[in-house]
Amino acid sequence: MRLDKFLSEANVASRKAIKQMIKEARVRVDGVPAKSPDQKIDEHTSQVMVDGKEIRLGGRIVLMLHKPAGFVTSTSDPRDRTVMELLPAEYQKLFPVGRLDKETEGMLLFTNDGELGHRLTAPKHQVEKRYYAETDGQPDEKDAEAFRQGIILRDGTKCLPAELEPFPGGCYVTVREGKYHQVRRMLASRGKPVTYLRREMEGGLKLGGLRPGEFRILQDEEVINLL
Ligand code: URA
Repeated sequence: MRLDKFLSEANVASRKAIKQMIKEARVRVDGVPAKSPDQKIDEHTSQVMVDGKEIRLGGRIVLMLHKPAGFVTSTSDPRDRTVMELLPAEYQKLFPVGRLDKETEGMLLFTNDGELGHRLTAPKHQVEKRYYAETDGQPDEKDAEAFRQGIILRDGTKCLPAELEPFPGGCYVTVREGKYHQVRRMLASRGKPVTYLRREMEGGLKLGGLRPGEFRILQDEEVINLL
């Protein structure tokens, strides 16, 4: 099988982007930099690596982006800049898992695996997400108690029990669901509107030292823990 066909079928990137990646010596076959897109490989026995990660047909990719403010979580938008603009050509086949508001920063996962995407966002799995929130007004123990009981939003919607840990100027919030503008609305309902919001953790994965606009591919072990 041709190398570029293999990489395209593995959803690594478009043929054009793959050609460029081979030129940049980012693709290795059995430990040796690939020579050309039409190089022949055995899809069952050859070891094909891209940026140090082994690629297999049907392989799953999970990417973590530190989303900066000002980008909408969508694969296309006629008016706004989207999170896809922050990813290079070879990752344009991935889709975002869940969403962050335009002005929210922090961890946004992308994958090519629909099942994994569903697992992380389906309400029944109640995947934990932790946010760092700066607020207008100091959250306190009364707010933490209200969060534990389950906040009722201004439109009457009831939220699942959540955790709030105050710090000077704001709080950490941990939720297990993903309603529209959830954290902002929960804190607004306590009269402590959010002035800055960042997701720091999802499903046990931490944003770590990734800076706004930076991304990294998750290791297989991290994906297994996520599952
Ligand atoms: N809660 C919000 O209010 N906004 C986000 O982007 C994520 C959670």
